[in-house]
Amino acid sequence: MTSVNLTIQQLTSSAPGAVCTPDLAQGPWDFDTVPGYGPGSSMHDTIPASAPRQGALPQEYRDASDDELHRRITAARETLGRRVVVLGHFYQRDEIVQHADFLGDSFQLANAAQTVPDAETIVFCGVHFMAETADVLAKEGQRVILPNLAAGCSMADMADIDSVEDAWAQLEALYGTEPDADGRVPVIPVTYMNSAADLKAFCGRHGGIVCTSSNAETVLEWAFERGQRVLFFPDQHLGRNTAKKMGVPLEQMPMWNPRKPLGGSSGDELLDARVILWHGFCSVHKRFTTEQVARARAEHPGVRVIVHPECPMPVVDAADEAGSTDHIRKAVAGATEPTTFAIGTEINMVNRLAAEHPQHTIFCLDPVVCPCSTMYRIHPGYLAWVLEELVAGRTVNQVSVPDDVAADARVALERMLAAKPKSAAGTPQAPTTPAAEAQGR
Ligand code: 13P
Ligand code: SF4
Repeated sequence: MTSVNLTIQQLTSSAPGAVCTPDLAQGPWDFDTVPGYGPGSSMHDTIPASAPRQGALPQEYRDASDDELHRRITAARETLGRRVVVLGHFYQRDEIVQHADFLGDSFQLANAAQTVPDAETIVFCGVHFMAETADVLAKEGQRVILPNLAAGCSMADMADIDSVEDAWAQLEALYGTEPDADGRVPVIPVTYMNSAADLKAFCGRHGGIVCTSSNAETVLEWAFERGQRVLFFPDQHLGRNTAKKMGVPLEQMPMWNPRKPLGGSSGDELLDARVILWHGFCSVHKRFTTEQVARARAEHPGVRVIVHPECPMPVVDAADEAGSTDHIRKAVAGATEPTTFAIGTEINMVNRLAAEHPQHTIFCLDPVVCPCSTMYRIHPGYLAWVLEELVAGRTVNQVSVPDDVAADARVALERMLAAKPKSAAGTPQAPTTPAAEAQGR
């Protein structure tokens, strides 16, 4: 359990501007009903009234020691056997990761949800939009459980169906609906995986698609083949970083602020647009700065700087490379010589990479270390609770997407799963990658 102590130690950083406290690590249940997401990077983001609420976790799970929870989770898993599969995102705490059958980035976990064997129940240790996606892609009769329903995503909350429907109506009024001479419609909606199921369904209904940070370029290629421009939500940074890499000029990427008429842009700007960027961001990745990159380079000559594409564009430009959580993991695992890595992503993952690769020097770009406070909601107390409830024949915290929403969302997700990079056109399709393969489990 040394890694737990390391995380708590870093959470108590007294550096100026620190916003993290160890309270989240020790008792996330104290924050499940407060209006903000808690004492991590997203502490200032409010939780929408419509977000699911977590009921009180029974006291015995709050009081149990780490060792007791570990024993109880292990025992429940033994009893449940192959009836249950546990999926975990790379940002999960180590105490959760050690119980996961499959560990991956959000694309790999979506694949895993579709391909896990005959388990009756998928226990998803991640955040709400990931559990919804698993439910949409799971087999008939499989159910999905999110151990703590308060594990949302503040970025996903920045776009909601009403605001997107409203934006779409304004864009249709401006562009019309007729395709151009090449058959491309005026605009294709693209939603980042980090979005509610009803937004994925919106994309399914309107000729659009889902993307993740590992396939955003392939998905934008897909969209530009079918549309003159893209409405990209909710993460402006992933949209901007990806489109810029593909050669789209910044002037052709206006921002859409849902609180302003025409998103705050002029009609001419929108007519010239290639990618319209929703005004959303991740509070964890927003913390990374070009000053941190410069300091890492000054203090560690030869350092390799790798960041997640949810970071602001100047940070991505200043880094040596950018990629999904699995890209970062593979970059570190693939380094054959001892290397110094400065990493711009969530702290649980950075700490784990450092512990797994002692031959390298690995540190987080942000000296004031903050976790994703919503990923951190999945405390072992919640995992023990949902598993022991299953042992007792009860299902708690099921995430269930209504059938009509799921049907449309599946269309957009399956377009994503089928999209292949242009460079792969004409070559046989690679098999889908189960997360187990990603982690060699
Ligand atoms: P990945 O798809 O890279 O795992 O990212 C998900 C996420 O939420 C990053 O903040
Ligand atoms: Fe959402 Fe950011 Fe947390 Fe990822 S790191 S789950 S985008 S709040």
